[in-house]
Order: sequence, then C-alpha cells, then structure tokens
Amino acid sequence: MNYLRNAWTVAAWARELEPGKLLARTLLDEPLVFFRDHEGHPQALHDCCPHRFAPLSMGRLCDGGAAVQCPYHGLRFDGSGACVHNPHGDGRIPVAAKVRRYPVVERFSAIWIWMGAEALADPARIPDFSFNDPEHYAVGTGTMVIDAPYDLEIDNILDLSHIEFMHPLFSSEAVRRGQVSFEHEVDTVWCKRFMAEDCEVPDFLRQAFQVPDGSIDRWLDVRWNAPAVMALWAGGVAHGREKEEGIVSQQAHCFTPVSPTQALYFYSFSVPRAIGPMAQAVADQNVQMLRGPFEHEDKPIVEAVARRMAGRDLLDLKPVLLPGDAAAVRARRLLQALIQKEATADGAHGSASA
Ligand code: FES
Ligand SMILES: [Fe+2]
Repeated sequence: MNYLRNAWTVAAWARELEPGKLLARTLLDEPLVFFRDHEGHPQALHDCCPHRFAPLSMGRLCDGGAAVQCPYHGLRFDGSGACVHNPHGDGRIPVAAKVRRYPVVERFSAIWIWMGAEALADPARIPDFSFNDPEHYAVGTGTMVIDAPYDLEIDNILDLSHIEFMHPLFSSEAVRRGQVSFEHEVDTVWCKRFMAEDCEVPDFLRQAFQVPDGSIDRWLDVRWNAPAVMALWAGGVAHGREKEEGIVSQQAHCFTPVSPTQALYFYSFSVPRAIGPMAQAVADQNVQMLRGPFEHEDKPIVEAVARRMAGRDLLDLKPVLLPGDAAAVRARRLLQALIQKEATADGAHGSASA
C-alpha cells in the first residue's frame, strides 16, 4: 500500500504518552517509539537500534527523559536520534550510531506525527481541531485497533447514511432522507447532512439536544482532511429554530494506518470547560458511551467488508454507488491524487522520506 507521508496524522492521544514511559507503535509499517523528553516535549524515533537492531521501546528512558537506552548493549539516543552515550570501549560515538527521528507536535489533545520529508513538516498544516484544545475544552478520548484498511474508515465516516441501519442508539429514518451536500478543496472534503423535522428521534438524542418532544432539526457535518483526519459536528435544535440555538456534539474521528490491513482509530468527544468542574467527567462519560457503537457496530462491519474485499481496491471492484457515496468517493480520489503526486516527486527528486 502506498501511504501519504507528507501530511500530519495522529500518532496517539496526548494522555496516552505518559511521562517517564516509552510508547511503542507501528504506523505506516514503520516501528516507532514515542516518549516525552526531560522538558515534557513529545519525541518519536525509529524503534530500531542501529547496532543489532533491538527495539528501543524495550529499553528505558534515562537522563531524566533526555535519552532512551537500548535494552541490548546500552547505547543511548536523544530525541534528535543522535547517540549520546556509548558505554563500550573508549566511549567514542560511532558516526553511524544514529536513528531516524520524526517530527511530532502536541496539539488539540493529540500527538501529531509527520512521516514524510522533515523539511516540509510545517505545524501550521495540522488541521484545525480547536474543539479539542485542552485549555478551553475537556476532551474524552479513545483509541481502537481496526483490522481493515484505513480508507474503509474514511468511507464509513463520510457516509453516515449507515446510521439508520447500524446504530439503534442514533437511528432515525430521517438520516437517510436528509439533504446531503458536499464541497471539496485540494486535501479537504466537507459533507453536510441536514435532517429537517425529524419526529422519530431516539430518546437518547432528545435528551442530548434537550428537545423533549416535537420535531427536531438535526445536522451531521463531517470534514475530512488527508489522509484520514476527520471532524464531526452532530447538532440538533427544536424544529424551526436557528442552528445557533442548538446543541452540537464535537467529535474527532482520525485513522492512521498501521499496515495495509490494520489501522488505529482515534476518536474524541469534547465538552467546553465553561460548563464547570464536571466537564471532564461528562466528556469521558460521552466518549465511553460512543465506544459501544464504534466497537460493536462499526468495527465488525468494516472488518467484515475488508475480509470480503481481500486487499482489492474499492474502485477497482466497480462498486454500486449510492447518493451518499459522493463525498467519500471524492475524498478517495483526492487522496489517491496526493499519493500519486508524492510518488512522482520522490521519483524525480529522490525519496523525500529517506
Ligand atoms: S542492539 Fe542496541 S546497543 Fe546493541
Ligand atoms: Fe457508524
């Protein structure tokens, strides 16, 4: 599988990267080790010692977090990938004793990684997830392993017409009948679904949107950024009222490939800190509640689809297309074009990811 490398993607939620601990994670087929350095800044290194190729993640943090010590013969590497200590012989550092480091940024409650050419890694290109800014929002987070290619998850989030059939908790016939529109730019697709006068709203949603009876106007707006970084705004208001008066649930749905057949799913639910000291508990409770459908409804069907497709590309299989597929197909084509462009640039100028 060809991956998009020159893009920011989520490597972990910030709370998963605990001070003093090493976090091993394979992304885009590359074994990585993450840690917080002595100043608390996240760092990411290739998880492979250049001496005898032991995983550094089996070692330990030392020098107050400033370096990782290889478990096998004790070479130490700092966050830049440089060997800073050799306990053998005269202690000189061999020239080849270094490991690749990857640009990482902690922002919006997540650890973002850039796995392409380091010179192109501009943090300003991290998609806006202000609703996960920990200063203003309590953020409930979850991480899940999905045994399916990550692009099938893009389809799943960009086409929410499956809600009626897959998710009893949010199910309503109005979702399928909703008006859908989409817009796109180079690496961004917006898919907006508006359900006017929904009377069959499940009780759970009535409570969430604080509309105990009568019709509700609802909306599900999804923004996709390459490669598979998505934000979802799920809102509702009493029928006929302005959207601004409604209540909106703000969620991240980000997917990072582990391999061609596996992905990590990073999801979140944020609550403004302004609601008071219980904000974190409310965010955690909501994300826990959402995990049920994600784990027991979305995950099994996406994994079953992957088994039926057996590694074949979706468009090569000439699938039947329904109206709700428009945004996902657009995202798929944009992503393929970006990957193709990157591959062409690598061919012309040498590997940008080397
Ligand atoms: S394998 Fe790392 S120091 Fe030997
Ligand atoms: Fe779903």
